[in-house]
Amino acid sequence: MRGAAELTAPVVSTDVSEMLVCGMGGSGIAGDYLARLADGHGVRVAVHKGYGLPPWTERCRPLVILSSYSGATEETLSAAEAVEGAGLPVVAIASGGPLLERAGAAGWASIRVQPGLQPRAAFGWLLGAAVRAADAAGLMSGASADLVEAADVVDRLLEDGGWSLAADLAEGLEHRIVAVYGSTGLTAPVANRWKTQLNENAKTPAWWSVLPELDHNEIVGWSGPDHLGRNVAVVSLHDRDESETIARRFRLTRQVTSTDVAWVGTVRAQGSSALARMLSLTLVGDMVSVELAARYGVDPMEVEAIDDLKRKMREDD
Ligand code: PA5
Repeated sequence: MRGAAELTAPVVSTDVSEMLVCGMGGSGIAGDYLARLADGHGVRVAVHKGYGLPPWTERCRPLVILSSYSGATEETLSAAEAVEGAGLPVVAIASGGPLLERAGAAGWASIRVQPGLQPRAAFGWLLGAAVRAADAAGLMSGASADLVEAADVVDRLLEDGGWSLAADLAEGLEHRIVAVYGSTGLTAPVANRWKTQLNENAKTPAWWSVLPELDHNEIVGWSGPDHLGRNVAVVSLHDRDESETIARRFRLTRQVTSTDVAWVGTVRAQGSSALARMLSLTLVGDMVSVELAARYGVDPMEVEAIDDLKRKMREDD
C-alpha cells in the first residue's frame, strides 16, 4: 500500500464526466471501490465485468480504465479491443502482458504496477493506480492525497491489533459458510472483497449482501429448516457514516438472524478518509481469510481452480 501511494499517473486530457472500469476478479473489484469513492466527488463510475463494452458507452463516451493485473485476462482484452474500435479515452493498468503491449502500440495512457504478486494481493496497487488515474484526469481531484492516510491506517492495523482481531473472527467463522453483510455506501464493495478473499485464500464458500436490500428477501431464508442456517456465520461491516436508519436495520436484522445462524460478528472501519476506512475493513477481511487458511491447512496463494479454467478456455479456442 505504501508503494501504491507513491504511484504516478499520466494526465489524460479529457472532457468526459464519467468513467467505466473494466476488469475481472481481483482487478475488477478496484472498480467497485473506485465507484463508491467517486460518489464523494459527484462523479459516476460504472463497472463492467465481462466481454466487450456496455452499449451505453457509445453515447456517453466515458473515460475507460482497463484494469488487469496480469494484463492477459480475456474479458479485459476484449474490452480493450472494443475501446480501440470506439476511440474512447483510456488508461490501462497492469503489471505487464498483452494489455500493456496494446497500450504501448496504441499510444494509450498506462500505469504499470508492481509485478510478481497474486492479483488479489496487488489490490492496493490496482486501486491506488485507479485513484491516481481518476485524479489525474480531473474527475476525482485531490483523491490521491488520501492514499497516504490509507497506507498509514493499514500499517498501524498490521502492527497493532489487526492480527488478533482477525484470529478472533476466524475462530467464529471456522467450519462455517460465511455471509458478509455491508450496506449501501462504502461497505458494500468491501463485503464483496471479504467474500472473494474467503473464497480464494481460505477455499471456503461465502456470499455477501447489503442492507437495506437483504431485508427485503434474504431474511426470509433464515426462517427455513433450522439445520441449514446452523452452518452459516454472519459478519457485518460498519462505517461511521452509516445512517441511523441503517444502524437500526442492522440491529433488527441481527435479532432476526442471530437465533438461526451459528455465529454473528461485527467489524468497524478505522481512519478518517473514505479510502482509509474502506481499506481498514478490507485489511481485516484479508487477514481473516489468511487466518482461516491456516486453520484449514490450505495454501492461501494457490488458485488452481481459476488457473485451470483459464487454461481450458484457451484450449477451446
Ligand atoms: O484473484 C484472482 O486471481 C482472479 O480473480 C483474477 O484477478 C482474475 O481472474 C482476473 O485476472 P487479472 O487480475 O490478471 O486480470
